[in-house]
Amino acid sequence: MKRILVILGAMAAVIIILSRCMNAGNDLPKDIRGEAYTGAATCIKCHKEIGQSFTHNAHGLTSKPIANQQLQVFKSDSNVFSYDAHQKVAIEKRAEGIFQVAYVDGKAVRAQKFDMVFGSGEKAYTYAYWKGKKLYELPLSYFSAIRNWAISPGFPKQAFYYDRPIGSRCLECHASYVEKKVTQTSGVSTDEELERGALLYGIDCERCHGPGRQHAVFHLENPGEKTAKFITIYKTLSRKQKMDACGVCHSGNALVAQKSVFGFQPGDNLDDYYAQDFAGFGGADPDVHGNQTEMLKGSNCYRKSETMTCQSCHNTHENIKGNLKIYSQRCISCHQHSQHSEATLAKGALSTNCIDCHMPKIASKLITFQQAGKADLSAYLLRSHHIGIYPVNSK
Ligand code: HEC
Ligand code: HEC
Ligand code: HEC
Ligand code: HEC
Ligand code: HEC
Ligand code: HEC
Ligand code: HEC
Repeated sequence: MKRILVILGAMAAVIIILSRCMNAGNDLPKDIRGEAYTGAATCIKCHKEIGQSFTHNAHGLTSKPIANQQLQVFKSDSNVFSYDAHQKVAIEKRAEGIFQVAYVDGKAVRAQKFDMVFGSGEKAYTYAYWKGKKLYELPLSYFSAIRNWAISPGFPKQAFYYDRPIGSRCLECHASYVEKKVTQTSGVSTDEELERGALLYGIDCERCHGPGRQHAVFHLENPGEKTAKFITIYKTLSRKQKMDACGVCHSGNALVAQKSVFGFQPGDNLDDYYAQDFAGFGGADPDVHGNQTEMLKGSNCYRKSETMTCQSCHNTHENIKGNLKIYSQRCISCHQHSQHSEATLAKGALSTNCIDCHMPKIASKLITFQQAGKADLSAYLLRSHHIGIYPVNSK
């Protein structure tokens, strides 16, 4: 009798364990992108370290909803921007949230709430508010270089402006997904509606690695398996595929998307998503903002080496921001013997900082911003990815 109980008990245990294994997939969270996806929360269960860095890095933080009363850069003293003696916009905390409030001669004439932020704040934050199924950009952005508010890039400087729509295109580079509906308005022009409740903020694991549900289920069911299955292995991609995987968001703003790049997966050919850049907007004269791909492709390091990709210098999972010494070691891995004149050598720091001389910070031609009380627009500086020999002392 005892023996039978033990056997029955053991069988029950086996059945429970087996059924857990077989149902591994059913327990995983659903994802609005579809059956093949599962969401970052699943990935982080097994890839803990990467998950931790992700919650602090620029990709993960590049868009977020703003919870009530939680604005990173709210200051008690300087939350006002004056356009002139009559008009100003103030950042105000109210019971329902935080608002950008426009005043004319002391009278509040328009107020819109901070609903969402674009940018990790590395260089800037830009904000948006929802009106029905549309997103609009708020008149003031926050610029880290001046630690203060200024007029959002490209906005008029004479008066506050609240009606610039933010399309799904911004989200294609700054988020992981948004559900949209394209509606026909008059004649040929179209309009889009965005679903606020179906927006995945930040750039998540599956945005860069492709859908990973099958990978997660397999490894849950086969915990002994140490080689990755059902996920694209970056190392096996061709050089073009690697460049495309970053270029989907780092090839500038001028390209015309033929279909949504939310569906882009590593290994895909970017030419299937973007129309050829015949006008040469990005190609002939690429900007330091947003177009690292074309900048890099124009430099001799890229053209004369067969292996250089973004990953030669960047690993999206490590945080070495500002550590120019480590970046310089990546230069030295290809340039053990660089030839410098006596004059250059005399400037020193030659082995620890190749970057400031050969990848100087350059003002963007596309983005500038207007500070209060300044006659000229302020420059928005970015690293030039056109690695080269610049006039000495550019820095
Ligand atoms: C049940 C555990 C588990 C889950 C959940 C999981 N992985 Fe993995 N993953 C592994 C294992 C095991 C490997 C192989 C060992 C390694 O490379 O760490 C791996 C490897 C990888 C690799 C490396 C491939 C290469 O280049 O060698 C990537 C990328 C990856 N996983 C992404 C994801 C993503 C994205 C998710 C979420 C959709 C995810 N993983 C969820 C277990 C898991
Ligand atoms: C889905 C769009 C998208 C993809 C794909 C993407 N990036 Fe980015 N990347 C961005 C955006 C947006 C930012 C700006 C983030 C911020 O500060 O708000 C950014 C910022 C960065 C930065 C600066 C911040 C930092 O972490 O130091 C680097 C470097 C970078 N990306 C490299 C890469 C590389 C390399 C790849 C390819 C493996 C890649 N990115 C793929 C959109 C993308
Ligand atoms: C901006 C794009 C991007 C995002 C977002 C991203 N990854 Fe990666 N990941 C990469 C690239 C590119 C590589 C390949 C690095 C290499 O081979 O140099 C990689 C490598 C990996 C690897 C294997 C190698 C390693 O470094 O350990 C794992 C595992 C992984 N990623 C998991 C994740 C998980 C989990 C998330 C979300 C928390 C995530 N990734 C988010 C681009 C990204
Ligand atoms: C084609 C991809 C792409 C599109 C479209 C795009 N961005 Fe970006 N954006 C980037 C990249 C890449 C960066 C980071 C590096 C740089 O400036 O080159 C960036 C940087 C930013 C930053 C500064 C982030 C920081 O922390 O420094 C803000 C704010 C921003 N974008 C807002 C927007 C808004 C708002 C829109 C739509 C009107 C938009 N972007 C459209 C790719 C894009
Ligand atoms: C993958 C290898 C590789 C890496 C990494 C690399 N380079 Fe190069 N670089 C090259 C090659 C190849 C050339 C062309 C040499 C020639 O013309 O003989 C080159 C050329 C140059 C030149 C001459 C530019 C010109 O216009 O003639 C400079 C300066 C330079 N590299 C600096 C750097 C710096 C600084 C870094 C790091 C930020 C770096 N390189 C990273 C491969 C690389
Ligand atoms: C030869 C090395 C090298 C290569 C290759 C390279 N980068 Fe960079 N990148 C750098 C350095 C150095 C910085 C400055 C880092 C810092 O200040 O912390 C940088 C900064 C950035 C930034 C932040 C913008 C800024 O001005 O601060 C982005 C975005 C970026 N890289 C994207 C890319 C992408 C996308 C590729 C591939 C098309 C790429 N990088 C290839 C060296 C490189
Ligand atoms: C003080 C500025 C400065 C620093 C720092 C610097 N370079 Fe240069 N580099 C130059 C200038 C200027 C030239 C043109 C030759 C000359 O006048 O010395 C040059 C030329 C080069 C060349 C082309 C000549 C050749 O050897 O083929 C390469 C490659 C190069 N540098 C790589 C590097 C690397 C790698 C580092 C970091 C280890 C570095 N440089 C640090 C200013 C600098």
